[in-house]
Amino acid sequence: MAIKISVIGGGPGGYVAAIRAAQLGAEVTLIEKNNLGGTCLNVGCIPTKALLHSAEVLEEAKNAGEYGIDLTVKGFDWNKVQAKKAAIVNQLVSGVAGLMKINKIKVVKGTAKIESAASVSVSSANGVQKVVGDKIIIASGSTPASAPIPGLKDNPNCIDSTGALSLDKVPQTLLVIGGGVIGIELATAYGIFGAKVVIIEALPKLLPMMDSELTNALIASLQKRGIQIIAQAKVVSIENSANGVKVNIEKDGKKEAFEAQKVLAAIGRRTDTETLGLDGAGIKHDRGRIIVDDNMQTNIKGIYAIGDCLGKVMLAHTASAQGEVAAENALGHNAKYDGKTSPSCVYTIPEFAGVGLTEDDAKAQKIDYIVGKFPLSANGKSLIANGGVGIVKVLLGKEYKEVLGVHILGPRATDIIGEAALAIGMEAAVEDIIETIHAHPTITEAVREGFLAAEKRAIHSVNK
Ligand code: FAD
Ligand code: NAI
Repeated sequence: MAIKISVIGGGPGGYVAAIRAAQLGAEVTLIEKNNLGGTCLNVGCIPTKALLHSAEVLEEAKNAGEYGIDLTVKGFDWNKVQAKKAAIVNQLVSGVAGLMKINKIKVVKGTAKIESAASVSVSSANGVQKVVGDKIIIASGSTPASAPIPGLKDNPNCIDSTGALSLDKVPQTLLVIGGGVIGIELATAYGIFGAKVVIIEALPKLLPMMDSELTNALIASLQKRGIQIIAQAKVVSIENSANGVKVNIEKDGKKEAFEAQKVLAAIGRRTDTETLGLDGAGIKHDRGRIIVDDNMQTNIKGIYAIGDCLGKVMLAHTASAQGEVAAENALGHNAKYDGKTSPSCVYTIPEFAGVGLTEDDAKAQKIDYIVGKFPLSANGKSLIANGGVGIVKVLLGKEYKEVLGVHILGPRATDIIGEAALAIGMEAAVEDIIETIHAHPTITEAVREGFLAAEKRAIHSVNK
């Protein structure tokens, strides 16, 4: 008899876990209270990147003259930008539904509550039904965290990322609270579409998980495009005003006010675990963040949890990787999740990506390291693509020259980082990368040059 697996949540964690379990012969039921594809496909990764791509097309069209192309750009049609985004989302969501069918996964609509490893109750408009099985994989994801700022809650001009993805028009002024990934990506898109954007960040450093030096370079490029960034500042309150809202901030003890048509609160995300009945089922959690071992199993045998609902690394590819591990373990394998090859990517212009340790991490962990850097101004393909804006930075262990971390600011950085993730996964050392021939002209050549620079033998730049 096939093992019966119930998966709660149809995002990139849950639907991938469901497919992997089905591949291994399980009879799978996937319970989803909203749309298949979860945050990622519906209100996360895909719609943001669709808006960013439209913005990039607009910017390229405006800059076409630089490349000898004579274009008159009349502007953009926001409804069509939104329609393009919706079409991409719908195609991918239907694709997931198709994958469920192909893999004979039963999809149940409704909100799941766990009774035991063998039973989940599902509530929907049609009443309550029980899904009975042998094991459960929880992949219930996350929702935007709400900021405890007076005047923000229930104010129609204050939106979260979901609201910011479906605005009916581009605001003239947008104040973003939080200089994390969401804040920076949406600031980039709306800035290009013509909004005057101000980012208010509480901490000294933006993009907490990214390399500081390259983050500073990205900030400089954001400022160059007119985005105002105020770090180490506190939003004290928000009031309604004639044109939208007035945002009162405090920086270095001084008060300042900004008028904005819209305020985007992007201060992080919280796990969506309240309706799961964790306490009733005896599942250990830390304020809603489900606790698992590296097999992705909770303290209850046969109940696994993956992705954003763990409240740790909230990335789609992390959720999917954990989903495969959980599914395999639920089917009797002994798979372990190891996040060391999981890249962090920020879809700005230029893109920013990193994998492994940052220099700050290496210092904090007292690891002896050496650094290699290569400017993209010396890379032909980058010069063609964006005028050579960007840098590759690599970190090697001092003694064995193993790859500790790779950080790239530049065109297609989010695609190129895959090579570095593979290098870290395979425990490659500097000579493995150097001995690999990289095609010309490509931006990947700059990655090899970064490694050569660490050995003080870069070909196309001065070795210091
Ligand atoms: P989710 O995708 O959140 O899916 C969870 C699903 O479970 C949801 O569909 C929910 O409805 C359902 N659910 C919850 N509770 C129940 C219940 N009790 N019963 C039934 N169903 C339930 N990550 C990246 O890697 N790259 C990006 O570029 C990126 N961009 C992002 C942009 C934005 C604006 C946002 C908000 C996020 C972005 N992320 C990105 C993060 C990414 O979307 C999440 O890390 C990813 O979706 C997590 O997958 P998940 O399966 O764990 O959860
Ligand atoms: P985040 O954690 O990346 O950044 C939130 C920022 O808000 C932090 O810098 C924090 O210091 C700041 N902040 C918190 N409270 C504040 C306050 N009151 N005032 C001012 N600043 C404040 O969270 P974000 O941007 O909301 O994104 C959530 C998660 O979604 C990310 O951590 C990431 O996991 C995922 N995501 C991933 C993307 C990608 O991979 N490209 C894109 C977008 C989101």
